Amino acid sequence: MANYKLKINGETFQVDVEDDTPLLWVLRDHLGLVGTKFSCGIAQCGACTVHINGEATFSCTLPVSSIGSSEVTTIEGLSKNGDHPVQKAWEEVDVAQCGYCQAGQIMNAAAFLKKNPKPTMEEIENAMNRNLCRCGTYHKIREAVALAAKMK
Ligand code: FES
Ligand code: FES
Repeated sequence: MANYKLKINGETFQVDVEDDTPLLWVLRDHLGLVGTKFSCGIAQCGACTVHINGEATFSCTLPVSSIGSSEVTTIEGLSKNGDHPVQKAWEEVDVAQCGYCQAGQIMNAAAFLKKNPKPTMEEIENAMNRNLCRCGTYHKIREAVALAAKMK
């Protein structure tokens, strides 16, 4: 076990865990930040997407020992009142079905739009490809990302 100080959503947290504990476990089981979801656990689905220094990253395979002083942002920290343009667009388009994949989708979309504020539909499709949705909301996801780009 080792003690890790983590910067998450603008706050500092301390956790005593094994070096290879995935960040996702720390977020959900140790810190109660359960907005980030566990699904495949093998970096294949994107349900666990968070931002590490602004980069969309799968947290299920990321050892806590690799975080260092990086800034972690989870869905809880994306905006204060759930009013990030991507969240507003998601609501407007009514994207979610069961909702399980949606926090990961939103985190990926937010990081993508920061890098590419005026994407083409093809760029949106490529960027969102890494996040799977068992309910098949892909069409609405693309629509919401395009709308969020206009809101910015
Ligand atoms: S749970 Fe991390 S990529 Fe699927
Ligand atoms: S909304 Fe159900 S898995 Fe995506």
